Amino acid sequence: MIFKPFMREGFMPLPVAFISTRSREGINNIAPYSCIMPVLRPLDLICLASAEKRDTLANIRETREFVVNLAGKSFMEKVIPTARFSPPEQDEFALADLTPRPSETITSPGIQGAYAWMECTLAGIHKGEGYTLIMGQVTRLEVDDIYLTPDGRLDLEKARPLMMTGGKKGMHYCTAADLDKSDSFGAMFPDGKDPLAGVYE
Ligand SMILES: Cc1cc2nc3c(=O)[nH]c(=O)nc-3n(C[C@H](O)[C@H](O)[C@H](O)COP(=O)(O)O)c2cc1C
Repeated sequence: MIFKPFMREGFMPLPVAFISTRSREGINNIAPYSCIMPVLRPLDLICLASAEKRDTLANIRETREFVVNLAGKSFMEKVIPTARFSPPEQDEFALADLTPRPSETITSPGIQGAYAWMECTLAGIHKGEGYTLIMGQVTRLEVDDIYLTPDGRLDLEKARPLMMTGGKKGMHYCTAADLDKSDSFGAMFPDGKDPLAGVYE
């Protein structure tokens, strides 16, 4: 099967992150974004791909900050209320019945009930043909303790990160599963030693 344009989200499960921003006028906004990726380790830079007509993009241009909220499957019900077009003067927390969560390093609030909050300041904007790449500097990443395993990993069974695959009928929601197998970073190196071993504690 050859995947044509617009059908290509079908083969690669994508995260559904909720981007919260605040306009210069103080109106809070939320939008789901799936085109999101870290820019290499140590995950202090993150990239969002945005279409031009997004209040999210306008707010980030104005205020130079945003929160990436990572949420579990209960947020499935919040995708459409936050993705549906609404005018910039509409507070989308109220629209989606979500509660703002004060951020520590920026003014834009996060969303209560997410399992992690990545506070970001704008590190750069790259405008392409029909898209804009937003680069965010992660100023703080907090994960709710209840979603962590005793050794500090994300507990996938508890967090159930919201993801999706695209298909002919729209978005199909899914999550990530633990395969109960790990490799050390050092295993990638001939001497078996992770050159960054000292930085994790
Ligand atoms: C699951 C999902 C993922 C989405 N991912 C993106 C994305 O990565 N980039 C984008 O520009 N729009 C994306 N959208 C569309 C925006 O969420 C939608 O246009 C929203 O209304 C934008 O809100 P805003 O104008 O308040 O920013 C996505 C929508 C859904 C439902």
